[in-house]
Amino acid sequence: MRDHPCGAIPESAVGGEIRLAGWVHHRRDHGGVIFVDLRDWSGLIQLVFSPEHPELFACAERLRSEFVIAVRGRVSPRPAGTENPDLATGRIEIRVTTLDILNRSDPLPFPLDEPDTSEEVRLRYRYLDLRRPAFQDRLRKRAAIARFLRGWLDERGFVEVETPVLTRATPEGARDYLVPSRTHPGRFFALPQSPQLFKQILMIGGLDRYYQIVRCFRDEDLRADRQPEFTQLDIETSFLDEETFMTLMEGMIRDLFERVSGIQLPKPFPRLSYTEALDCYGSDKPDLRNPLVLTDLTDLARKTDFKVFNQAARLTDGRVAALRLPEGSRLTRGQIDELTEFAKSLGAPGLAWIRVNDPARLPDGLVSPIVKFLETDFLTSLIARTKAQAGDLLFFGAGAGQMVNEILAQLRVRLGRELGLTREGFAPLWVVDFPMFEWSEEAGRFQALHHPFTAPRIEDRPRLGDDPGHVRSRAYDLVLNGYEVGGGSIRIHEADLQRQVFSLLGLSTEEMEEKFGFLLEALGLGAPPHGGMAFGLDRLVMLMTRAENIREVIAFPKTQSATDPLTGAPGMVTPAQLRELNIELRKLPGNPEN
Ligand code: AMO
Ligand code: AMP
Repeated sequence: MRDHPCGAIPESAVGGEIRLAGWVHHRRDHGGVIFVDLRDWSGLIQLVFSPEHPELFACAERLRSEFVIAVRGRVSPRPAGTENPDLATGRIEIRVTTLDILNRSDPLPFPLDEPDTSEEVRLRYRYLDLRRPAFQDRLRKRAAIARFLRGWLDERGFVEVETPVLTRATPEGARDYLVPSRTHPGRFFALPQSPQLFKQILMIGGLDRYYQIVRCFRDEDLRADRQPEFTQLDIETSFLDEETFMTLMEGMIRDLFERVSGIQLPKPFPRLSYTEALDCYGSDKPDLRNPLVLTDLTDLARKTDFKVFNQAARLTDGRVAALRLPEGSRLTRGQIDELTEFAKSLGAPGLAWIRVNDPARLPDGLVSPIVKFLETDFLTSLIARTKAQAGDLLFFGAGAGQMVNEILAQLRVRLGRELGLTREGFAPLWVVDFPMFEWSEEAGRFQALHHPFTAPRIEDRPRLGDDPGHVRSRAYDLVLNGYEVGGGSIRIHEADLQRQVFSLLGLSTEEMEEKFGFLLEALGLGAPPHGGMAFGLDRLVMLMTRAENIREVIAFPKTQSATDPLTGAPGMVTPAQLRELNIELRKLPGNPEN
């Protein structure tokens, strides 16, 4: 039906006859001539219908947006002065000689290019959204990225292996999606949160180098960078230490950016320890394109009489820190008040600040509601430590460390973005030296910061017995522009150590055997040292296509409330299906059985 895509008609076609097919993007009637922009995945081309052919013209008058048509016509240069430099085909047009309407379209629920259409509506009519070339460009780039990564790994001896989707729960910290078993009443499969245990078993099976582009399922709160089902590039290797492995992965990501996007990433990627990341940025996934940094003041704060600071500094895990905004005294009181409201909305009791007019004159060179509470000694150390200059603004967070980090990290991101301080481009880094465990007040026990299969640092192993809170793990995260795009670790490959870690995480011997007996058994039958990582493919594609959220790079994503408006999933099932599964529903709103 067509000789070329609409957006890629070669110069050589000018003067000749051509067949094209696509969708009516716009129809404009102009002084007795009808112009139609014909669209397909590749772009637009202008069709011209002249009243010289009355029958054809009458047919063209019936065209509406999104009709599917095929035409034949002559490729002509546009008359001088009517070229459109914004369009790849803007110098030509098609003088149509025949028109076939292949299908009609009802009036659209929303204009394709209308940016204000709600996402719910767009997702319900996802095929309309997909017709936009910009949207398809992202999916094509996604395919190119996946193809490149497969090729890169294939060339280096990695084997793509499929792992089961109907499986047992693998703990990655989220809730499981469960699938009832019909043949085993009362039992359930879990959809994998990741193929973690299978890839370890593959290493124990001697596969040596594994990868998979694999769907993972996590029932967790959704955000712009989280979906209930998402795709990992999952990797595992044997007999490599973390240095060698990270260098390998870093090379892969550098090659990917260079070959697919023509972008040079730094060599090597910078590294930060988990502690440094929290100290300097309040986050374990800092955006290094943003120049703002935090300064820790907890020790100084213990010595001041200013209650807000002193009390915070004396909390176990308390923190007092400053965020220095160079030239921040430009901010008006109104702007500072707005930032204070922002901090409060995130759970801060307040947002203390100091405007630095003259750092050499203390305290008079400082303007702030809190200066009168602070001793000159404190102020002198504050200025020295933050390196504050005339014209700067200092913001303060005081309280539980986690809260202070959260608030100041978000403030940093917001100021960086709104004041144009965060530069363009890509800033990757590794975050390393994570603690193995974090104490959970809620659970009253330690929880794995990464997952329970991550190995402790060799020199920290003796502390597992008496001081598990200070054991560092052999985990590493890859962070890009403020997103965690990948994470992994060297694994525990000894059954005894794995048992010890399980027991620190509160598992009884029976629970270990019930849940992970197969792993413990495998570790005891000749497991090689192994390790790997998984990249969030959606996040990587989102960043590489400069999309705003991962839903824009997933053909059929779920909404924020984990539904699919296109198909209406999740849906009801019939009473017969439930009976077959031995499942009885509790009385819930919307249950037709009620
Ligand atoms: P982790 O849980 O860190 O590690 O996941 C790896 C990467 O997957 C991405 N990711 C997500 N992307 C979109 N939506 C989500 N809900 C979501 N959750 C995670 C992130 C993250 O860095 N088995 C380990 C890996 C390993 O140890 O090898 C794992 O799954 O980019
Ligand atoms: P107050 O003594 O409560 O009036 O607080 C004095 C200043 O400190 C005000 O500007 C508050 O916004 C600020 N402030 C109060 N609590 C905190 C806190 N936990 N962290 C940072 N600033 C605070």
